[in-house]
Amino acid sequence: MSRYVIEGGRALEGRVRISGAKNAILPILAATLLSREEVVIYDAPELTDVEVMLGILQELGVFIRREKGDGMTLVLRADDLETFEVREDLSREMRSSIFLMGPLLSRLGRVRTSYPGGCAIGPRPIDIHLKGLRQMGATISERFGYIDAQVDRLHGADLHLDFPSVGATENLMMAAVLAEGSTVIRNAAKEPEIVDLQNFLNRMGARVKGAGTDVIRIEGVKRLGAADHALIPDRIEAGTFLLAAAITRGDLLLENVVPEHLEAAISKLKEAGVTVEEETAGLRVRLSRRARAVDLKTLPYPGFPTDLQPQMMAFLATAEGTSVITELIFENRFKQAEELRRMGANIRTEGRTAIVKGVPALSGATVQAPALREGASLVLAGLAAEGVTIVEGLEHIDRGYHNLEKKLAAVGAKIRREL
Ligand code: UD1
Repeated sequence: MSRYVIEGGRALEGRVRISGAKNAILPILAATLLSREEVVIYDAPELTDVEVMLGILQELGVFIRREKGDGMTLVLRADDLETFEVREDLSREMRSSIFLMGPLLSRLGRVRTSYPGGCAIGPRPIDIHLKGLRQMGATISERFGYIDAQVDRLHGADLHLDFPSVGATENLMMAAVLAEGSTVIRNAAKEPEIVDLQNFLNRMGARVKGAGTDVIRIEGVKRLGAADHALIPDRIEAGTFLLAAAITRGDLLLENVVPEHLEAAISKLKEAGVTVEEETAGLRVRLSRRARAVDLKTLPYPGFPTDLQPQMMAFLATAEGTSVITELIFENRFKQAEELRRMGANIRTEGRTAIVKGVPALSGATVQAPALREGASLVLAGLAAEGVTIVEGLEHIDRGYHNLEKKLAAVGAKIRREL
């Protein structure tokens, strides 16, 4: 089992380039199934989640070529699909496999997949996805852990989501672009990755507007064509590095960042006493004293992102005063708290609330990454802690961070991967 060995207590200083967004590329890869022509994606992050999605597409019959450069460039062509079945072991490995339902139903009129897997952060139902697809004409049966969906041709519909689910919004957008007639998605999620998906779909010839607001309108078209697309930067990776600078009381310049995508996180960091400034070259973040406690609630975008909540908890564990964190997106997303306690943090959790009493310093320990962002939170804690921290379970972290140890070492962290 691979693990990180971190010698903490070094302030991070220098420049970090943020990669293309994981949560943008996953739906965009699924959307490549909607066209028979060549699609090119620039700045693709090299992550295990991306590899799993590419593996699924390859099994379905998609031609894929990788070109390595500054970031990875992917060339895909889905001209001849061989099957409508998503291999069970692959779909179980990643929740995002659910995105394939909309595009496959659109393209082939049939899809068979097992219930998707993903992070261990509580139950993650897919009822909103299935309800929308049914309203667009699909017949869906759920038996023995499999979902089987069929339709002659999807038709447009007026959809109201019970919750602004990111994945359901994306899935239904993809289902609607080739459907007959027009579709409206109300109470849609507003995340920047949804805007990126809209831009990509429109580059292929789709007619989608409204992404980034809570009403998305899609006019169905007959076919989609070729496109190339540069992904938006990963706001969660950027937020993780903002917090890495703050927790080590360092000074980092983040390149390839869209500050508007991070408004909620930046505003909380400022409230905690961190200096965050936009410079021509990027976003600069620094802190030289102990931070102050702040309260926060996770919410759908533009609220504070749940995907930065575990990292924020690590940061607040050494702030002055008591912080209250309320997790409103996922039911069970405080698994990092127990590991942080092993490092000397004073954190009490009760249901969806965590009370973090800041301690002057954390101390190194051996900890286990329970999931992706939770793992990142332990790495941050290790960077700030006195002594040596060992973070086990890197397979979770590799799902969402490319070369995390190399990027951190390049700005002064003492961190190495042991296989
Ligand atoms: C996406 C992100 C993930 C992030 C999450 C919330 C990707 C690939 N992943 O996940 O990193 O943590 O948004 O910002 O983009 N829900 C239902 N029924 C459904 C769908 C969702 O009840 O059919 C609930 C979920 O259980 C959860 C909440 O809605 O409590 C949010 O889920 P959703 O927005 O769908 O997240 P994902 O798209 O899975």
